[in-house]
Amino acid sequence: MSGVLVTGASGTTGSRVAARLTARGARVRAASRSSAVAFDWYDPGTHRGAVDGVDRMYLVPPVRDPDPQAVMLPFLDLARTAGVRRVVLLSNSLIAAGGPSTGVVHQAISETFEEWAVLRPGWFMQNVIGGHAHAACLRATSTIATSAGDGRAAFVDAGDIAEVAAETLLSAVPANTDLVLTGPESLSYDTVAAILTQTTGREITHRRLDPADQPAFYRALGLPEATGHFLVAMDSIVAAGMEDRTTDTVERVTGTPARSFRDFAMAEFPG
Ligand SMILES: NC(=O)c1ccc[n+]([C@@H]2O[C@H](COP(=O)([O-])OP(=O)(O)OC[C@H]3O[C@@H](n4cnc5c(N)ncnc54)[C@H](OP(=O)(O)O)[C@@H]3O)[C@@H](O)[C@H]2O)c1
Repeated sequence: MSGVLVTGASGTTGSRVAARLTARGARVRAASRSSAVAFDWYDPGTHRGAVDGVDRMYLVPPVRDPDPQAVMLPFLDLARTAGVRRVVLLSNSLIAAGGPSTGVVHQAISETFEEWAVLRPGWFMQNVIGGHAHAACLRATSTIATSAGDGRAAFVDAGDIAEVAAETLLSAVPANTDLVLTGPESLSYDTVAAILTQTTGREITHRRLDPADQPAFYRALGLPEATGHFLVAMDSIVAAGMEDRTTDTVERVTGTPARSFRDFAMAEFPG
């Protein structure tokens, strides 16, 4: 088999996708601005070299770019011409084919590649660790601060997303569909905080913010103004119940049930 290009290879899903593909014997080209294969969505000079010797690719869109199609559609053309035949795109649960942003890319991939999958995960469990704003807030204040109220989300493990990505990249038969990925249960942030308290033995609470106060709260933690506004938008989606549903896609594709938030917390959340 030729190689698999993994973009966003230093990030939350890409690093896990690259590890799982390597474990399954695939030849991985790990790409990002800081990875072994230098790749910048905004530098077309890095694009042709990234798809050298590649017939499949995992695409993480340019981060928080409201118009990712501007750089992704020309790259898809270049990749197809260079011999890439299977594409797995990371989108999100809220955006369907033809929708805004990655929805345009989703539509284009389904129309121009014979082998494809679009992964549409809900909120990542890993938002409470690493570089995410929730993680920064937890480290600074032992609270998870949201304006989501009692809204619930079916948080999904990035490891499960990576398992689904690896399977859809390597399977003999292409998925040729989109896959909405969730964890096994829908949880409020009160419950998330309670689980983190139980698994760490430290008191961790859900701080309920008014959306109007959220940007200032996160600015006071030293995070950019835009982060607070982004979280207001994300939390309004959870508050409205739009992330309150589960799917069996992880188990259907991988044969293994989706990881629970408790199991994630015991394995990955700092004690
Ligand atoms: N967090 C959630 O709850 C959630 C839920 C659903 C969907 N999503 C989607 O997940 C995506 C993010 O995926 P992720 O969490 O796996 O990634 P991530 O952890 O946010 O990391 C971003 C990756 O992209 C790379 N990158 C950043 N700027 C780049 C550029 N200009 N050119 C090329 N690569 C660049 C980074 O590496 P370098 O800095 O080395 O370039 C890094 O490898 C977003 O599209 C988001 O909408 C997130």
